[in-house]
Amino acid sequence: MGTLVQGLATLRALRSCWAAFRGSSRGIFGYQAALATTAAVIAGYLATAPLGVGAVWVTIGLGAAALLAERGRITLGPTTEVSISLLPTVFAAAVLGPLPGMIVAASSYLGDFPPLLRGGQRAYVYRAGAPYLRWGIYTSIRAIYGAAAGGAAVVGASLFVSDTGSAVAATAAATIVAEPLDLLFAALTFHVRGGRGRDIISASGPVVVAAMPFYAPVVAVLALAYEQVSPWTLPLFLVPALAAQRVFALYQGQRRLVADFANLNERLEAANLSFATALVATLDARDRYTAGHSAAVAIYARDIARRMGLSDEQQHLAHLCGLVHDIGKIGLSAGLLEKPGALTLDERREMQRHSEIGERILSNVDTYVEIASIVRHHHERIDGEGYPDGISGDEIPLLSRIISVADAYNAMTSDRPYRDAMPSRVARVRLAQAVETQFDTAAVAAFEAILASSSEDYRLARSHEFSLDSQDVKSYDLLLAPSPNVRPAISA
Ligand SMILES: [Fe+2]
Ligand SMILES: [Fe+2]
Repeated sequence: MGTLVQGLATLRALRSCWAAFRGSSRGIFGYQAALATTAAVIAGYLATAPLGVGAVWVTIGLGAAALLAERGRITLGPTTEVSISLLPTVFAAAVLGPLPGMIVAASSYLGDFPPLLRGGQRAYVYRAGAPYLRWGIYTSIRAIYGAAAGGAAVVGASLFVSDTGSAVAATAAATIVAEPLDLLFAALTFHVRGGRGRDIISASGPVVVAAMPFYAPVVAVLALAYEQVSPWTLPLFLVPALAAQRVFALYQGQRRLVADFANLNERLEAANLSFATALVATLDARDRYTAGHSAAVAIYARDIARRMGLSDEQQHLAHLCGLVHDIGKIGLSAGLLEKPGALTLDERREMQRHSEIGERILSNVDTYVEIASIVRHHHERIDGEGYPDGISGDEIPLLSRIISVADAYNAMTSDRPYRDAMPSRVARVRLAQAVETQFDTAAVAAFEAILASSSEDYRLARSHEFSLDSQDVKSYDLLLAPSPNVRPAISA
């Protein structure tokens, strides 16, 4: 009983020591020292058995292949990277023995020696802190598992008499030891650094298990070819394998670039919309009569575009153009917007300048060039009697024709300084009467179909979706279709 109590107390003391050790810099240095010492002792022991000259050259070649493979590793996810560097390691361990296995495994991490790192990797390692410590830990780990795989291969090979049986057993044993040992050490390192080692095992365990049936037969065939056909079969396999990995890495890099561009596009779209809503809010603040008009035109224009079967991108554009179509009114002289009663001829002319002023404001924004043109033409008429350019029919951009219908309808159904709002029914008749003179027939037909099946709140732009606040970037994300191509937002 006394012994049990003593044992438990010792266990508890060890656990509290370990808890203090974990995550501390002292602990990590101690861990690195223990790994390096273990690797040095193993290397010292193995070095007593001399390698043949042939084996030295093959070991150097395999070490170089492992280094190249590791340098060109492929990133599969934020925490997952793969390379074929284990292939030369397992081969060296299975065919040449524990010391070559150890040397090749350690060489694979030579390219990660901090001064040799490139670009992003270098920045990452230096930012994470203690780059040499990290390098020392992983090089020692590789040296240890390379030697262990070689030891396992010796034991495996000794179980069979035939050359083929020995080669297969040696590679199987080396694979079974190297892969899981690599993973266990990675988990242990993470644990010592204060993380949950279990997370590493559950994240990478399936990849390791899936890779083992691939490595073992490939290395077994290579080993048999090396021993029974010619040592030159090795470079014949490794060179294309490294090239294939390189090509795949380049492909991955390109895909990442495409994803980054798509991400950038989305951020630009979001920035565009924030900019547009900020401009419209400025206009609303100045003109209380037209407050809410832009937001209503945006929703109507978007819905007409959808009803007409336009693409998601065009619907998006219609919405954005609706929001900013009257932005040029910001540039009109003080008092004109606020003037009660009818405008004089000169005042009307000045008011008409808002579409050109709007174009000028918007064309200063790089990605708004197309929007600027649509805004310029939102008061053109199908018969060519509109302004500012008097263009007609299909010369008028389709989205300008759509905005024109939405704009006129909302203006008619809202109160103005000089008149009360018209009922929706009357406004719709007016739209229908002006088809082919003022308005585009298809746009009016699409709008009529929408209004015929809508609620009164929608017809009078009173529902919640018409408020400018509800048309923020967040709600807009839902509308954005994933962009299949790399291109600048909107203006493409
Ligand atoms: Fe306008
Ligand atoms: Fe308008």
